[in-house]
Amino acid sequence: MNSAGLTPLTARRGGPLLGRVRVPGDKSISHRALILGALTVGLSTVVGLLEGEDVLHTAAAMRALGARVERGPDGVWQIHGVGVGGFFSPAGPLDFGNSGTGCRLAIGAVAGSQITATFDGDASLRKRPMRRVLDPLEKMGARVGEAAEGGRLPLTLHGARDPMPIVYESPVPSAQLKSAVLLAGLSAPGETTVIEAEATRDHTERMLKHFGAKVTSKPHGEHGRRVTLTGQPELEPANVVVPADPSSAAFPLVAALIVPGSDLILDAVMSNPLRTGLLTTLREMGAKIEAVATRDDGGEEVADLRVTTSALKGVDVPPERAPSMIDEYPLLAVAASFAQGTTRMCGLKELRVKESDRLEATAAMLRVNGVTVEIDGDDLIVQGKGNVAGGGEVATHMDHRIAMAALVMGLASENAVRIDDSAFIATSFPGFVDLMRSLGADLT
Ligand code: S3P
Repeated sequence: MNSAGLTPLTARRGGPLLGRVRVPGDKSISHRALILGALTVGLSTVVGLLEGEDVLHTAAAMRALGARVERGPDGVWQIHGVGVGGFFSPAGPLDFGNSGTGCRLAIGAVAGSQITATFDGDASLRKRPMRRVLDPLEKMGARVGEAAEGGRLPLTLHGARDPMPIVYESPVPSAQLKSAVLLAGLSAPGETTVIEAEATRDHTERMLKHFGAKVTSKPHGEHGRRVTLTGQPELEPANVVVPADPSSAAFPLVAALIVPGSDLILDAVMSNPLRTGLLTTLREMGAKIEAVATRDDGGEEVADLRVTTSALKGVDVPPERAPSMIDEYPLLAVAASFAQGTTRMCGLKELRVKESDRLEATAAMLRVNGVTVEIDGDDLIVQGKGNVAGGGEVATHMDHRIAMAALVMGLASENAVRIDDSAFIATSFPGFVDLMRSLGADLT
């Protein structure tokens, strides 16, 4: 840690990346397993939980709400849940750290309970919009007490006394928003419906079914879905197996594509089609990514992916693909910088409200390393030249994905790339640096 309290890190070009690894468990599924376990009476277990800071904050919040949440000596997590409507008002504020997912999903779960809770987080989370979840939850009967400007954190929520089911047309493509409404809908009588114009990740729907709830999902329009939950279900405790996180696997994967001579296998990467937009795009760019084995692992399809260094070309990425790769754009922008030709990524408005303004942070990351990049409305346009000068210091803005994307860039650029702070990597990918070093990456 330096005198400013930051932990800088530098990535340098070196030999090829070689080996076979499994990245940690999926962040989205890990949060949901803890929350649904807490909302179910009895003992649920989770194998392969992501033990990143974001998820550990959710575990602590579920404990503060009354569930017993413990890590067994074998690494299997045990959750003794209190059931829908069984939460207690926590003694102090619930701290979600850097995690929008943990916070927004827990807000939904609390909205359907007759309790009062205060939600808080770090400086990044305090800037992020919460109105998007509060609007539908107020329609269901929850009340917002004190809150910062625009309904931001810290905010106090009074759960609904008699939650009402709603039909909600989501104004933004957000799995977190959909999930918050569905979790609140667990305590409402009758059917709660969320209509989304663009289908977003469906892990909440899948896991609700796994715990015994009735959820239906029908196509809506060209790219959307209409998801309906039958409220007040008899949830049954369940065992959850968490597959490897495709959003984490993406970092060694893109590194292998751009570092000459690399040959990697990434084990058991979740291949839910609502998460595979990056793979689709990279393959269109000419990436050699082969699914060497596919299987079902605890309700999600997983694949072992073999990746070898590839000559990439620029492509147009359509806006409707955004929800299936929303967390991967900073990294795709890195891949695009090493491609030949122009990559235009369209419809990236949501990137502005992630852990940082990721549209600006991504453009700045490229620019400081000599890449020509432009933001045009909600589109990001990268001029790939096949190589990158590097030599820049990247401002990470408390954003783990900017930090990791910049380090991947440094592994293949002519000059080293330094990031101002590596601390936030632990929110989603504990062990990132060691895993990358084990493959041959030069990170110091
Ligand atoms: C997530 C949904 C996405 C994503 C986030 C995880 C989830 O956010 O960016 O990392 O687990 O539901 P939005 O739903 O806000 O797009």
